[in-house]
Amino acid sequence: MALVKVKPLEELSPGELTEIKVGDGTYVVCNVDGNLYCLTGTCPHAGGPLGQGSCMAGVLVCPWHGWEFDCRTGVSDSSKGDKLDTFPVILEDGIILIDVQ
Ligand code: FES
Repeated sequence: MALVKVKPLEELSPGELTEIKVGDGTYVVCNVDGNLYCLTGTCPHAGGPLGQGSCMAGVLVCPWHGWEFDCRTGVSDSSKGDKLDTFPVILEDGIILIDVQ
């Protein structure tokens, strides 16, 4: 397991999200009412940057065309059954870490 440091929890308030690049991958971490979720950061529709979208009421919204994804499961509202990959998030000494490798 290779953990990657994201940022201190105090810099990611409930309702906020942040984008992080790891190698060739881009990921997004959402704070939903104090629970943290990590998902693929690239939209399956047309490659939109999900980390530059919004996170409201547990829903991640793509900034390009508005597709919506459940922050907890990665499941989208599209009829095609698109789903973002999800990754473990660990909080260690107030620092958000993700396991994406
Ligand atoms: S690229 Fe995300 S909704 Fe189109």
